[in-house]
Amino acid sequence: MRYEKNMSNILVVLAHPNLSASKLNKTLKEAIIDLPNVTLNDLYTSYPTWQIDAAHEQQMLVANDVIVLQFPFYWYSTPALLKEWQDKVLAWGFAFGTEGTALVGKKILVVTTTGGAQESYSETGQNKHTVEELLLPLRQTASLCGMIWQTPVVVHGATTISDEDLAKAASEYQKLLASL
Ligand SMILES: Cc1cc2nc3c(=O)[nH]c(=O)nc-3n(C[C@H](O)[C@H](O)[C@H](O)COP(=O)(O)O)c2cc1C
Repeated sequence: MRYEKNMSNILVVLAHPNLSASKLNKTLKEAIIDLPNVTLNDLYTSYPTWQIDAAHEQQMLVANDVIVLQFPFYWYSTPALLKEWQDKVLAWGFAFGTEGTALVGKKILVVTTTGGAQESYSETGQNKHTVEELLLPLRQTASLCGMIWQTPVVVHGATTISDEDLAKAASEYQKLLASL
């Protein structure tokens, strides 16, 4: 199924604590799940007790060229299990440090969804910063690991987005992954 010539192997690390109640992330996930070069790693399903298998996660990272982190924006950051995943998996000697070069040269794409409208994520808006600015800790984490940061995909307005705009965002996400 995977490893077709000229296609990057893509690992989508999805972190949503209640995917069955999700609108945006569920729609985005459904748009990309059948792509032949995509492996989905649904963290909250894989680790209901939060005992992350770091060695297994590291193997999956090594086996893929593009790493996608997909999650709802929670307090201007990731849901907690994705932070736990970072803390356990991006270990010294693997992701950073003199011999920690496993992730060097891999592309990293953040795909996130917000409750706030796009206008609220600006200098003059309620959230004072763009989502891209607020993603700085993840961007610097990627940089320290030698990964190549891709322009994030942000789908705004969980309760206000139209079905049409959500379908468009899902289709663009699918096209983007197919093109990487
Ligand atoms: C604990 C928590 C924290 C949240 N923090 C933010 C936030 O900082 N900014 C924001 O725009 N929305 C925030 N939201 C709203 C979610 O981002 C929004 O409900 C989610 O992206 C919708 O995606 P879904 O349909 O896949 O659940 C938060 C929601 C929860 C439950």
